[in-house]
Amino acid sequence: MYSLLFRSKGVQALSAAGARASARYVAGPASSIRGYRAASVLMNQGSVAKQAAESNQRFMVNTYSRPEIVLSHGKGSYVYDTDGKEYLDFTAGIAVVGLGHSHPDVTAAVSDQAAKLVHCSNLYHNEWAPKLAQKIVSATLESYPQGSQGIYAKSSSGSDASARVFFSNSGTEANEGALKFARKYGKVVAEQGILGKTASEALRGDPNLKSGIVSFTGAFHGRSMGALSVTANPKYQKPFAPLIPGVQTMKFNDTRELGTFIDERTCAVIVEPIQGEGGIHAAHVDFLRALRRRCDQVGALLIYDEIQCGLGRSGKLWAHQLYPEDCSPDIVTMAKPLANGIPIGAILVSDRVADMIKVGDHGTTFGGNPLACRAGCVVLDHINTPELLSHVAAAGETLEQELTSALAQLIGGPVVEVRGTGLLRGIQLSSDPTPVVNLARDRGLLLVSAGGNTVRLVPPLNTSIEDIKKGAAILAECIKQTVQ
Ligand SMILES: Cc1ncc(COP(=O)(O)O)c(C=O)c1O
Repeated sequence: MYSLLFRSKGVQALSAAGARASARYVAGPASSIRGYRAASVLMNQGSVAKQAAESNQRFMVNTYSRPEIVLSHGKGSYVYDTDGKEYLDFTAGIAVVGLGHSHPDVTAAVSDQAAKLVHCSNLYHNEWAPKLAQKIVSATLESYPQGSQGIYAKSSSGSDASARVFFSNSGTEANEGALKFARKYGKVVAEQGILGKTASEALRGDPNLKSGIVSFTGAFHGRSMGALSVTANPKYQKPFAPLIPGVQTMKFNDTRELGTFIDERTCAVIVEPIQGEGGIHAAHVDFLRALRRRCDQVGALLIYDEIQCGLGRSGKLWAHQLYPEDCSPDIVTMAKPLANGIPIGAILVSDRVADMIKVGDHGTTFGGNPLACRAGCVVLDHINTPELLSHVAAAGETLEQELTSALAQLIGGPVVEVRGTGLLRGIQLSSDPTPVVNLARDRGLLLVSAGGNTVRLVPPLNTSIEDIKKGAAILAECIKQTVQ
């Protein structure tokens, strides 16, 4: 019985609950579908994966290439497949499950909330969205008291800094909303002539002209038309062109052409302080500083996409808090770990921007629902602690040290570089990392690749140092075996 292999009683209980749920599932009304499902439950474990792959092929739109395993449950930094095989999870669902799988406090909050109120739409207030918004704003301002620009700016009346939140359901939607807010902002400042001396007459005559958006090579901001338009990757963009107009792509970490690309027709510049999907590349301090300065000169908003690098992953609450205060953003987008796997996204905007967004300007059916927001409150309370954040920094350093010492002989050859910050790390290889990812999975370690032949390491933020070392050892072995 595969549950005997599991480590903790909690996991055994979960697997028993899963078995009961399966039993209930197959005890439905008589039909050929029921027979089909019952048969699949009775099949031996390996067949579950085969069946899933076949059903996927037959019934799902095929946008992913998946290995033939079916994950059924997880606990902490480990997940288990339907054959009972255990995997150390260095993907965390692509930087989502920051507190690890089945975190008891998240589980308790979600269970309790599911029994009370899952959804009531944005027609009404719910108890949890305002609480989570307040937590995000206070945590951000408190963790970076030296901040003075953008979201950290004091209001014009001199009162304390504040900022506001809009909830969405995903990272893509957070970016989509941020771009819309920036477009609205562009129109308002152009119409009102807020840009003062620098605003050209042309802009006042046609506020739509202040609609330009600048993004960067190597970026990933999502797959909707707006978010995709600022994701300059031909693989993602080409099949869906034409994209939205008014977007220009600049070279990441290159300040030379800022003056040409970012001008008074620009309403927003969107950038990841640490690029994740692009291959774990941190923005240079001078680059972010120059973006901030240029945005101020031309009245554009600086948007930081912290969907992957934010919420503790860098060892700070926000990755931009690793940078000096004169690199602060006007808007921060977040998603992935915010509710530890319950879908959620959010846009944090300065008061100045929030004031320009009016009732009816933007909306969502699911965004801000009490289930996700309550989970988000638990997550933020756990992540925004000195203990967790310093653990992330220390665990990240351990990971890098273990890898660099185990791979010393290969660095500069088949291993190009080991890089990253906190628990957002990458190992760039000189060739396609897919064989390494596949071998590691066979050996019980889940990994995900990123751009530029990079293996991306994004384990849960609370992964123990022991498990960090264990994962590093498996990975180093797999690299050695694969590249030699
Ligand atoms: C930096 C960044 N932005 C946006 C997104 C899109 O988020 P989602 O997949 O939740 O829509 C991702 C997803 O990987 C991301 O890493």
